[in-house]
Amino acid sequence: MTEHAYQQCVAASCSARYGLSDVLFACPRCGELLDVAYNWSACHIPKSLSSFPACRSTPGRTIQSRADYSGVWRFRELLPFAPLEDLVTLGEGRTLLQQADDLAPHIGMKPGALFLQYEGFNPSGSFKDNGMAAAFTMARRLGKRRVACASTGNTSASLAMFAAQTSTIAGEPMQAIVFIGADKIALGKLAQALDYGAKTVRIAGDFDACMRLIRESAFRCDLYLMNSVNPFRLEGQKTIMYRVLEGLDWNVPDWIVVPGGNLGNTSAFGKAFIELRQLGLIDRLPRLAVVNAEGANTLYELYHEQGLRFQQGRIDRKGIDAHCARRDAEGRRARTVASAIEIGRPVNLSKALRSLEAMDGVVRQVSDDAILDGKALVGRYGFGCEPAGGAAVAGLRLLLSERMIAPSDRVVCILTGHALKDSGATISYHSDSSSRSPGGRYRNAPIDVPADPAAIAAVLGFGDGGSSE
Ligand code: F0G
Repeated sequence: MTEHAYQQCVAASCSARYGLSDVLFACPRCGELLDVAYNWSACHIPKSLSSFPACRSTPGRTIQSRADYSGVWRFRELLPFAPLEDLVTLGEGRTLLQQADDLAPHIGMKPGALFLQYEGFNPSGSFKDNGMAAAFTMARRLGKRRVACASTGNTSASLAMFAAQTSTIAGEPMQAIVFIGADKIALGKLAQALDYGAKTVRIAGDFDACMRLIRESAFRCDLYLMNSVNPFRLEGQKTIMYRVLEGLDWNVPDWIVVPGGNLGNTSAFGKAFIELRQLGLIDRLPRLAVVNAEGANTLYELYHEQGLRFQQGRIDRKGIDAHCARRDAEGRRARTVASAIEIGRPVNLSKALRSLEAMDGVVRQVSDDAILDGKALVGRYGFGCEPAGGAAVAGLRLLLSERMIAPSDRVVCILTGHALKDSGATISYHSDSSSRSPGGRYRNAPIDVPADPAAIAAVLGFGDGGSSE
């Protein structure tokens, strides 16, 4: 395995190191999360960020041209844990930063200040593909055939797609095994897992139950875990931030706003910026806003009510466990319309706290109504997104109202999943008001008309039925 890369525990009191080929999802010594770490002085790092894209972007058939076309692997010098010939890619990460001047005034931002990073344009329709390219690279190198995850839907869709398209180095097909909560994932995501041939285990429980069970099953049944406790996943997700910087001509924005669920993105984004600064490739970090749904607000509660902080890796594990046990005892389960982030026990808490510390971050919570309004605005003035992405826009609105963010600050909202993932939520929002579906503030209900030209003309604003030529 590559000698300049290794795994390392994030707890300052431990910092234990492990080899890349050790299959670990927590530090065996202290139980904390692991990072992929690098001895950068032994790596080849370009002198400036602007030298990255020069030769890379044309699709082709060679390993190098395929990797160059990937929005993850064209930044491979910044996640150098595998040689070129082992890199797995399905063309993920070909996403562009969008300057959202049409949306900006509707939420109180100045033109030119608001940007959307729409990760729905990935092959399986969510940001997860960035991470899966990296995790599958590792699974392949390790010769793992049975890859598995618990999921609120997107991880399972992405895992299933990559497994269907990837074989081990020995040429054997991979088998995807996914645990999902019954009635807990949007239909578009379930359909993907089924279509791509994943063994789809539907469990009578929520995501947190699935996560607990997949960990146990991974151990018992020799499954390679592809949730974001797998540190290689997060290496791939760092590249979302590289593309944001690229979209801003390598300038650092003032704020990154991201929905928080299992907190993998939050963790990966912080690591990306910390490393770029270490390498002298940027001179300051953007601030970070992590947005929870009110009904799935464990990070918000721990951060604001318990005062939990990273404290340079001296994380209060007992405090976290006691808080979660209290929530369980009170029968509080995560519940939100943004099913992607319906998570009560985020697995990446400690790394997320590190990101918040490094990026002078803030944590906010927003209501389901605000999430759906945010999503509808992105639909109307952006490319659309699934509800979790709407949480980022709702969080930005809240931070503007608090004057934490100024209308002229350069802000990037991360839209994590495609608009078609959860069309049920969209249709219900835009439906006519009724007792079953109150409909939303930016509702755009379909108009039912008889198959009659006069009635249609009336609906289109030609009051008397229009001319009848
Ligand atoms: N947005 C979408 C669309 C997601 O699918 C997820 C997570 C998140 C946001 C939260 O991201 O975990 O990095 O904080 N989905 C996972 C899944 C949990 O199983 O698909 P995070």
